[in-house]
Amino acid sequence: MAATLFKRKTAKEVLDKSIDQSIDHKKAGQTMRSESRRRTESAKKAREVELTERRVPYGAGPMDRHWFAGNRAASHVVNSLHLIFPDGERFFIRSVNHYRKQIQDPVLKKQVRMFMAQEIQHGVAHERAWDTLREQGFPVDEFLESYRKNAYDRLEGFVNRRIGHWLSLSTTVALEHYTATLAQTVFDTGVLEHDMPQDMRDLLYWHACEEIEHKSVAFDVMQELKPGYFKRIAGFIMATFQLLGFTIQGTRFMVKRDPECSFWSFHRDFFRFLRRGGIKFFLALPLPLLDYLRPGFHPDDHENRMIAAEQLRKQGLPVSESPI
Ligand SMILES: [Fe+2]
Ligand SMILES: [Fe+2]
Repeated sequence: MAATLFKRKTAKEVLDKSIDQSIDHKKAGQTMRSESRRRTESAKKAREVELTERRVPYGAGPMDRHWFAGNRAASHVVNSLHLIFPDGERFFIRSVNHYRKQIQDPVLKKQVRMFMAQEIQHGVAHERAWDTLREQGFPVDEFLESYRKNAYDRLEGFVNRRIGHWLSLSTTVALEHYTATLAQTVFDTGVLEHDMPQDMRDLLYWHACEEIEHKSVAFDVMQELKPGYFKRIAGFIMATFQLLGFTIQGTRFMVKRDPECSFWSFHRDFFRFLRRGGIKFFLALPLPLLDYLRPGFHPDDHENRMIAAEQLRKQGLPVSESPI
């Protein structure tokens, strides 16, 4: 009798459990459907963006050695970005261009062309600042030689030959997420509203705007190839190490060759920068950056195109009439 009761109870439990499971599956199905609907919406929104190539004169203006509010740390970190960006942007173009012929969507094809045109212009403007750094006595070409050898001849060559071009594309996509997130954080925290040459502020704001504008192009190219979660995250890991590694290398290079900057004065200025708004900037970065790890992530989930359009208008630059 007790055994039968036990059996009946177990059978009821099994029945209840299977009903619960079927409800869970139904809920999971609904969540997945709404997730993919939301993703499609984001991708659709990205397709409506009309990109524009803007040729700007920025980067050639005069600047002091510690042009970022007299702060050695902030000046040399951004100088390091001046050094690594142009070749990094040419790497983005190569990575996307490798898959260009596989793109079917004519709208995305056009966006890819404009993405490349914008990245070329970013490189041109940052390279103008190299001349000023050379005049200030920094042997810029010495750094560029070793950076190009390590980052592109060796690392990119190895990745493309031994692992596959997909990793270069995936790294590009993740770096585009980094640049778009950095751009949004620059606007959200006003970190560039310090004393600096207007030409340099214009250059950084214009670059930030275009990074926001074209943030989804490389991502949508990768999506056409249906890479899967693992390949997307592998690119994020590569991008994180490369961006941090080469920015630190560039900064160390600049600091070592600056006769007015020592190890101590660099760190003293770094903490000064943190106290004057830098801390807000660094604290605002992790959450939106890590959103990239979410399985259904699309760059257009972060709505920030209006901020970019507003800034471009302020700088007197053309803004696309397409919905953003
Ligand atoms: Fe760029
Ligand atoms: Fe970009």
